[in-house]
Amino acid sequence: MSSATNHSATQIIPPARGFRGSLMLPGDKSISHRYAMLAGFAEGTSRITNFSTGADPHSSLACMASLGAKISVEAKTISVTGTAGQFIQPSTQLDCGNSGSTMRMLAGLVAAQPATFRFIGDESLTLRPMERIRKPLQQMGARIDLTDGHAPMTVHGTPLTAIDFEAPIASAQVKTAVLFAGLQANGTTSIAERVRTRDHSEHALRAFGATLQRDDDRLSILGGQKLHAIDATVPGDMSSAAFFLCASLLFEDSNLVLDSLGMNPTRASLLDVIISMGGVIKVLDIQDAHGEMVGTIQVNRGRTLRGMDISGQLAAQLIDEIPVLAAIAPYTENGIRIRDAKELRVKESDRIALVVKNLRAMGAEVTEHEDGMDIPGNQALHGASIDSGMDHRIAMAFSIAALRAHGPTEILGSEAASISFPEFYTWLDELAIR
Ligand code: S3P
Repeated sequence: MSSATNHSATQIIPPARGFRGSLMLPGDKSISHRYAMLAGFAEGTSRITNFSTGADPHSSLACMASLGAKISVEAKTISVTGTAGQFIQPSTQLDCGNSGSTMRMLAGLVAAQPATFRFIGDESLTLRPMERIRKPLQQMGARIDLTDGHAPMTVHGTPLTAIDFEAPIASAQVKTAVLFAGLQANGTTSIAERVRTRDHSEHALRAFGATLQRDDDRLSILGGQKLHAIDATVPGDMSSAAFFLCASLLFEDSNLVLDSLGMNPTRASLLDVIISMGGVIKVLDIQDAHGEMVGTIQVNRGRTLRGMDISGQLAAQLIDEIPVLAAIAPYTENGIRIRDAKELRVKESDRIALVVKNLRAMGAEVTEHEDGMDIPGNQALHGASIDSGMDHRIAMAFSIAALRAHGPTEILGSEAASISFPEFYTWLDELAIR
């Protein structure tokens, strides 16, 4: 994918001497999307606290309002009065902004509804592959028009029939689109996943009252189930925490406490990676919230910062965290090698190409592969101009690499961070010791 390069804001990140502090992260982006969509579909009024502050989940909320849900915001709680399973014909296009999750998952939720839905997105989203959801939804009977495999996308709602779906790629968004369609299809839809992807949709569907079965790697859902409103608090976002967890690995006397952090096992591989790289993690508390594990952790760094290999299932489960791990790889003892991560090329930007370009801009040696990269360790980086490609995770990943660089780094298109983490630069400034 080519990246959009209409930068407007620039953030200067000076090097730091240390990294310390404690915080409670804003609500998880993935869970916020699902709660917004299912609350909008359910009967009754759901109250969702600590909803993500990122622009993406707010695109989902705005789409749900266009579909007939009533939404109000009071302090940190969002109330969503749902449509009791019956969306209205939207009077406008469903604008998903930069959010692939909104477009892909919502396509599944509307596919059985008797109306026509036109989905649009920004320049980056318009380049992202949508055939991956059209295929299974079409097998269920859905009628979906794409533009050359991409958005703009029109879903002509129609009754659906259950299918047995073997997921050809590891994608929680595709799985969710099929689950949301299966919830409204005739019969029992089953989904087999070779690689276990994040299971927030399964927990959210159960929280809203649906019954789902899981036998080994096969998940099934009976159509025609009704959903009911819930009160919920969204756990803190592990993928946002990743930036600060990696920052804490860069300084020997770092200390980071993260409160109310989402630690769902399908998202928590990052914590194992942090430990294998030399981080020391203490779990201070752990609880269950609507099937999601939520906890408080304390992170310090050991004596060394080790590198590692990331491939196979681990690459799929760390897909959102690879940019920041790659960005700190030059500071490790033995580097990081990444494979089986081709999906990175079709995210908000081509994240392999942009990570390689920006590491080189900072003076690093790196070898690019079609499905990953090799970044040797023990390299010193210098401050540089970073092209975020208007991709939130690239902007934030290189802000972390900047903490150990010689001289200041400027992040072009720094405002992209607000897609998932608007507070990022303010908090980075508070935690970094200068
Ligand atoms: C997400 C799934 C992943 C991830 C994205 C959020 C989700 O995408 O990269 O940031 O909430 O289900 P894919 O499903 O395309 O792997």
